[in-house]
Parts: sequence; C-alpha cells; structure tokens
Amino acid sequence: TWTPDAFVDKTVAELKEKIGDEKVILGLSGGVDSSVAAVLLHKAIGKNLHCIFVNNGLLRKNEFTDVLRQYEGMGLNVKGVDASARFLDDLAGESDPETKRKTIGRVFIEVFDDESHLVENAKWLAQGTIYPDVIESVSATGGPSQTIKSHHNVGGLPDFMKLKVVEPLKMLFKDEVRRVGASLCIDKALLGRHPFPGPGLAIRILGDITPEKVAILQEVDAIFIDGLKKWGLYDKVWQAGAMLLPVNSVGVMGDERTYEKCVALRAVESTDGMTADWVNLPYEFLQKTSNDIINKVPGVNRVVYDISSKPPATIEWE
Ligand code: XMP
Repeated sequence: TWTPDAFVDKTVAELKEKIGDEKVILGLSGGVDSSVAAVLLHKAIGKNLHCIFVNNGLLRKNEFTDVLRQYEGMGLNVKGVDASARFLDDLAGESDPETKRKTIGRVFIEVFDDESHLVENAKWLAQGTIYPDVIESVSATGGPSQTIKSHHNVGGLPDFMKLKVVEPLKMLFKDEVRRVGASLCIDKALLGRHPFPGPGLAIRILGDITPEKVAILQEVDAIFIDGLKKWGLYDKVWQAGAMLLPVNSVGVMGDERTYEKCVALRAVESTDGMTADWVNLPYEFLQKTSNDIINKVPGVNRVVYDISSKPPATIEWE
C-alpha cells in the first residue's frame, strides 16, 4: 500500500542516485506542487537545488515577499526575482485574454532563462508536474507546464529547456501531493492554498492592465481572502478570487456622486477545476466583505457576487 512516508524515503533515495552531485534548477510558484517538489529535492540534494521564484507583478498582495520569506525559512536555496516591471511593460495596452497569457508565458521564459544562466553548470530542470498535468497536457487546457511548452521562443528552445528533466511528483494526484507535503512537515497553510492561475491577476483584470488596476485588485482580493480565513470559510472553498470589471457605475459618497469601478467576487467548489459550482457563502459574510471593500478601497463603489456554474461559465473571467 502507498504511504507518504514510504514515498518520501523511496523518492529521496532515487533522486540522490539519479542526480548525484549535479545542480538542479526549479521554478517555484508559491503553489503546492512546486513547493512539495522543492522540499523533496532539497531533502535529497540540499544546496545543489537552486530555486527561482519570479514576481510577475500579478501575484496577490504581499505574496512575493511573504512566500519568499517562507521558502527561505524552510531552508530552501531560493532566489527571488522581481520582474514586475518587465511583465507590466510588455502587457501595457493589451486587452485580449489569450495575448495576455502568451505575453506572460513568453516573458516568464525569458526571465527564467536569464536566471538559469546564472546558475553555473546546471544539469537538471525540476518541475512540480503532477499526474493530472500529464493527462491534461494531452488534452491541452493550458496549465503552467503547458504554457512553457506552447510559448517558447520561435528561435528555438530556451537553454533551460535543454536540461534533463526531473519530475518527482509525476505519478501523484493532488491529495497525495498534500499528504507527501505533510509528511515533509511543510506548513499546513501552504499545503491548503487555493489554486492560483499562472497569469495571476492579469486574467482577473478584464481588459488592459495597469499598475493602478493591479493595486486596486490586490486590495480587494486581500479583503475577500482574509475574510474567508477569518470566517472559517477558506478551507470550505476550492478557489476564490476577485475580478476587476471594465465597468464604471454611479454611486453616492456623502453628497457626491461617484462614477467608479465594479468588482465581482467568485468562490467555487470543485474537485479538479473542470466543473465547478458557486459557493453559497453566508449573506452576513458577503455583506461585511462588500462594505469593507467599498469603504477601504478607493476607486471601487460596487461589489457583485458571481452565481454562475462551470460549465458554461469558466472559473476565471478571461
Ligand atoms: P477556468 O477559468 O478555465 O479555470 O474554469 C480552471 C482552473 O484553471 C486555472 N487557470 C489557469 N491556470 N494558467 C494557469 O496556470 C492559465 O492560463 C489558467 N487559466 C485558468 C483557474 O484558476 C482554475 O483553477
């Protein structure tokens, strides 16, 4: 029978044998899969694992700093690369969802390639691929590994993609990855994190992206997510987030008419993201969250809650 402890022992031994004293590069995303893969590899080869955590400027509020600190606290050899300006510059003026995704995929590869050249004599590229990703890459729905495959430079493969690939979680399902993570004593909060898309807030800002819009959405999202945690709802929801709509509407503030932005909150139940139902969040929670958002986030005067299931609506709005 499969147990997480036995998996860890066996995999660490195999990784030691396979990699020896060669250097490995791994891109951390802040998500469960890449974090568990990193800790497993770190246990096997220590400082020869070089982790790269890229800030694309489209992460949640404080995420880059908080998660980077957490990784450092776990003893990982990790380099944080703040490439926000590079991503946001290349995205400026672009409204088409697929073009936004492609731009982010391309810039990520450029940044990652630059960084991987700084790790001298690296021989391996590690990835947190899990079993459903292996299946999905056949049906092509566009996860992070997919992004890397479909958006590489036209001039040929970036150098890091010529490295030997090691994917220690390739045969595991998500719940098994979480159990392996627990057996490696990874923080429960990290293991229980909601999925978050690679293109981040870019596909939750409908239309073009500006630093101001990112800042507004980060504030709104933080109020919503912190609220879910405070009310004990976070773990009952599979994924949650806020969308910044390209819509202004009229409101009143004191004696003044306002004409400001509208945000939509989305929280879904799901097992794999392929189908999803909106979550029946308590009205009291929605009421408090809406008040908090409108009172605390300048530029937003209206909050709506998305009550659409997937299919036909997707989880993200873009
Ligand atoms: P949709 O919106 O297609 O989302 O119902 C299903 C799940 O996939 C995530 N998602 C993405 N993840 N790159 C990613 O890494 C993407 O381009 C992307 N688009 C959607 C979404 O957050 C949800 O968990």
